[in-house]
Amino acid sequence: MMAAGPGAPRGGGPVSVVLWLGILGAVLGTAQAAVYFREQFLDGGGWRKRWVSSESRPDLGTFQLSAGKFYGDPVRDRGLQTSENSKFYAISSRFKPFSNKGKTLVIQYTVKHEQKIDCGGGYVKIFSSDLDQKNLSGASPYYIMFGPDICGSETKKVHVILNYKNKLHPIKKPIRCKVDGYTHLYTLIIRPDQTYEVKIDNEVAALGNLEDDLDFLPPRKINDPAVKKPSDWDDRAHIDDPNDIKPEDWDEPEYIMDTSDEKPEDWDHAVHGEWSYPMVKNPLYKGVWKPRQIDNPNYRGVWPHPQIDNPHYSPDYNIYSYENIGAIGLDIWQVRAGTIFDNFLITDDEDYAEDFGDETWGETKDPEKEMNIRQAEEEQQRERVAEEEYFEQWLKKKQGGKRESQKDRTKKSPIGKEEL
Ligand SMILES: *[C@@H]1O[C@H](CO)[C@@H](O)[C@H](O)[C@H]1NC(C)=O
Repeated sequence: MMAAGPGAPRGGGPVSVVLWLGILGAVLGTAQAAVYFREQFLDGGGWRKRWVSSESRPDLGTFQLSAGKFYGDPVRDRGLQTSENSKFYAISSRFKPFSNKGKTLVIQYTVKHEQKIDCGGGYVKIFSSDLDQKNLSGASPYYIMFGPDICGSETKKVHVILNYKNKLHPIKKPIRCKVDGYTHLYTLIIRPDQTYEVKIDNEVAALGNLEDDLDFLPPRKINDPAVKKPSDWDDRAHIDDPNDIKPEDWDEPEYIMDTSDEKPEDWDHAVHGEWSYPMVKNPLYKGVWKPRQIDNPNYRGVWPHPQIDNPHYSPDYNIYSYENIGAIGLDIWQVRAGTIFDNFLITDDEDYAEDFGDETWGETKDPEKEMNIRQAEEEQQRERVAEEEYFEQWLKKKQGGKRESQKDRTKKSPIGKEEL
């Protein structure tokens, strides 16, 4: 949209006007957006006043402010980074409590697993303002959990878990998260019409209806318990072939006496009892005879059980809505630490969130990638140089042994000294 300003093609007068109106509209829309929470960590240590570390256990990991090993911008890309391996982390921040009733709710943030994470959470939790921040732990009740979770090769998913009447309901649809080491933008949108959308990097990753995709309510329809399957309804797809007759030579015992055996000479009747031939598996034994299966000519298919309205179902048009939303937190476990969380946003405006994502993550993602690639190349270069230097030293030493005097060599070569 912005690119269409001065760079618009010549002669595109009317088009430009429409575009400018569009921008104006977007600006007005932005002015109306309610921003409940926004955190970009742009003021150095200021975040320490806004975020409260949990003291629920003495060994929680500590967060530090960092843009990481590579970044698009050293200041704008600073966020909360997990700094110790194999630790639980728990930290949260408050905002003015609000209700999302009748409004869209957007939860958005960026997460970067630059450490090539093996196992660890990258999700956020949204709490009621009742949250005891100092006691935040996995046991703290929450409204919404959202974001990526990675563990081994099995778990690489985006959680969407909503609290409904004090029960947690995970989404049934699998949503795959990003697994590379770059910063990614995660957005959850919940609308008053009970639809939801999950976006990753401002692209739709999943969408649907809350009632369909999370098990909040009992099913709308159930089988009518008053109707029984008619007794003459044949739902056997296959039956025994009546023409298949058991062969006469089929019946053979499974075990037979081994008459080749002989009674041992020292067999003591008093001790071992009467001697008899041992039993062995009968090679002629064919098992239990079963007639061949054929298609049932009277098969009528699966009986369609008539459905009725479920008396236990009653619609709830307020599944999506929460009162007193008042805190956001990170409550996670990480094996290999180094994840950076940044650009938190909670708003009622999808377009505002999209623009905010484009202006934060969208502007630093490419330079971040470039720095990472550059660092990898520099690292390779350093390794190459080190290898060459080592080879040259080794070569010099070898040749030097022939050419130079013993005295010169000890003076010149530090490697020779070390080896002495
Ligand atoms: C901390 O939270 C846990 C779990 O929610 C709770 O059982 C415990 O009573 C809380 N402790 C304090 C001191 O509030």
